[in-house]
Amino acid sequence: MKLIIINGPNLNLLGKREPEIYGSESFEDFMGQLKAQFPKIDLEYYQSNIEGELIDKLHEVGFDYDGIVLNAGAYTHTSIGIGDAVRAIETPVVELHISNVHSREDFRHKSFIAANAKGVIFGFGLKGYQLAIQSFL
Ligand code: DQA
Repeated sequence: MKLIIINGPNLNLLGKREPEIYGSESFEDFMGQLKAQFPKIDLEYYQSNIEGELIDKLHEVGFDYDGIVLNAGAYTHTSIGIGDAVRAIETPVVELHISNVHSREDFRHKSFIAANAKGVIFGFGLKGYQLAIQSFL
């Protein structure tokens, strides 16, 4: 099974960025734990702060991989382009947010991805990525 985690803008700062919301662990450290926890899964990680690069990556993996875990960060709430890319590809996408976006500002309640996602996970911290991977098994 081949899965990819795609993280969007500002998620390269995990561990440093607003740790009271996003925790104090870097995603690179967390990836090591995920790989150890799911040794049989071919698990890749991609991060970009650039909307078009995220769309390009969705196109690149979206017809071959078995699943995509997508945390598009703030683009979730703004990007029709990323929403359309999720709709255009064949690989199922789980939308993920570390924080409980529905307990935060109103602008975080809107998602251009959710309607075309296999499912949405939010509010469970980094553990949400484990839940998302398990959803593909
Ligand atoms: C986020 C929530 C978004 O609203 C925010 O812009 C992020 C991170 C999350 O993982 O909780 O960058 O996607």
